Amino acid sequence: MCGIIGYVGQKPAQNILVDGLRRLEYRGYDSAGVCIVDDGRRFQVRKKMGRIQELSALIRQQPAQGTTGIGHTRWATHGPPSDENAHPHLDQSGTIALVHNGVIENHQQLKEKLLARGHSFLSQTDTEVLAHLIGEYYLEDRDAGSVSNGDLLTHAVRRALKDVVGTYGIAVVHSEHPRTLVGARRGSPLLVGIGRSENFLASDASAVVVHTRRVVYLNDFEIVTLMEEDFQISTIDAAEVSPKIHEVEFGAEEVERGEFPHFMLKEIFEQPQTVQNAMRGRIHLSEATAHLGGLNLAPAELRAVDRIIFIACGTALHSALVGEYLMEDLARIPAECEYASEFRYRNAPVEKNTLVFAISQSGETIDTLAAVRESRRKGHKTLGIVNVVGSTVAREVDGGTYMHAGPEIGVAATKSFTAQLTILTLLAVLMGRMRHLSATRGAEILKELEKIPQKMRQIIEQTEAIASIGKKYCEARSFLFLGRQYQFPIALEGALKLKEISYIHAEGYPAAEMKHGPIALIDPRTPSVFLAPQNSVYEKTVSNIEEVRARSGPVIAVATEGDTEILKKANNVIYIPDTLECLQPLLTAIPLQLLAYHIAVMRGCDVDKPRNLAKSVTVE
Ligand code: AGP
Repeated sequence: MCGIIGYVGQKPAQNILVDGLRRLEYRGYDSAGVCIVDDGRRFQVRKKMGRIQELSALIRQQPAQGTTGIGHTRWATHGPPSDENAHPHLDQSGTIALVHNGVIENHQQLKEKLLARGHSFLSQTDTEVLAHLIGEYYLEDRDAGSVSNGDLLTHAVRRALKDVVGTYGIAVVHSEHPRTLVGARRGSPLLVGIGRSENFLASDASAVVVHTRRVVYLNDFEIVTLMEEDFQISTIDAAEVSPKIHEVEFGAEEVERGEFPHFMLKEIFEQPQTVQNAMRGRIHLSEATAHLGGLNLAPAELRAVDRIIFIACGTALHSALVGEYLMEDLARIPAECEYASEFRYRNAPVEKNTLVFAISQSGETIDTLAAVRESRRKGHKTLGIVNVVGSTVAREVDGGTYMHAGPEIGVAATKSFTAQLTILTLLAVLMGRMRHLSATRGAEILKELEKIPQKMRQIIEQTEAIASIGKKYCEARSFLFLGRQYQFPIALEGALKLKEISYIHAEGYPAAEMKHGPIALIDPRTPSVFLAPQNSVYEKTVSNIEEVRARSGPVIAVATEGDTEILKKANNVIYIPDTLECLQPLLTAIPLQLLAYHIAVMRGCDVDKPRNLAKSVTVE
């Protein structure tokens, strides 16, 4: 996915655009660029391969004057990262500039038509084709005199998008209209930031919240025309749309790193607070149950649910796996977890009382969104557990619950994961208390859940001790992560955290699976991380540790405070406070996040923007 920003107002656009791109850099960071329209109706394009700081240095050398402009930070889809492939892209006449997030699937056919009409292209991108197409329609309308001058750009964008097959979030400017900015979306997020005598376009609110918290989330097939004092939204069929203004729930400070060296570390440290936020107002101790507004399901409908399918990707899938155990353990409801990318193509038989839950931090993951659409197409009640307010998944499900974790800037998901676990626990208690879960047990779980934030703090305080363990193993070429039952998804999550930010190969397994192959990998250079808190499978897990140690495999164990036995088994132990078995994932995840973070820093990796990754995968 990519990050888009647009500005029309009275201030110099260049700093606003570059600062906005810095806040969007987690969406993609292989090249970046801006196009600013100066009062002489000239474009000033600055674009460069590499990070935002490269673009910023270029602009310091060659400042761009003007108070209207667009900017883009790229995650390459068509055409490798290069200066030429960086956005913005211009049309044939050089008077229209465009930035784009998404994929124009029929770009080749469109390009051939334009080539036949004498167009020439500078890049290998699908985006440049769209710029040329808009330019073609603009000239046609202008020469025909069929469209008023003020509507020419919007009308040309509308005509071009009708030819497009694929997804887009775009921002467009024309050098002849220096006070106008046009945006449109289909499948890639785009919002309007409403300022005072200035307006913004952005991929998400983090880019504009420092200027305004009033935003309008565009829907698919909507086009917006912005001037400094006003904006109009219409559909691709030119029907007028009344904007629905939202107030962003977080402030500018939440998208700043503060005193932390990386957003990921800040977000790990925020977890006691964000888990608190995820449960706030949702625990009803007097009835020993939870309350999740927004599910839009009557108690009778919830009681009738006889199966739950979770659909998600990546870390969200791992929380969904914990959700599977929670639903079966606490609510006695059969549950299964599906890779969204698989579910969308499978023809899984799903009965009428099956509830489908999509879990997504960004709410824009294309595979999860496609699985939601497939589930709804088949008539299933589809709910969401989402972090980004107003995101596409949040707006397309039948109901759901927001994580309230605040913006998660680090590409590696951390606070969103524990927020998801919190909500899944609340959901399991809610559903369980409608079935077989006793008030006593329900109250016990909820009271212990309320203590989790403080217990998280006790683990986070060990960050330096965990760093010293990481230092011992940061040169390893491969890690194994192992756990049983509730700890198996945490083993998968620990492996994902490590590999995605340190680039060390890592695999997560059910600990008992060791003997079915992976134990062949054990040697003195391959550390195994075991999740071994005091629980119903502790003894079995310790046996697995001994099997690894007997083959000289180094072992790092995550264990319960007070467990001195484990010290005789493992090379290194990270202790967590005791808690109920069903809540242990909320605690065992933290040491693995910190271990991955410190190892990645020691290896000189870009922790917040790991290579090849982006914060949300909005392309298939
Ligand atoms: C996890 O650290 C990764 N950033 C990635 O696996 C992520 O969880 C996945 O892409 C799903 O993203 P979503 O929660 O925004 O849908």
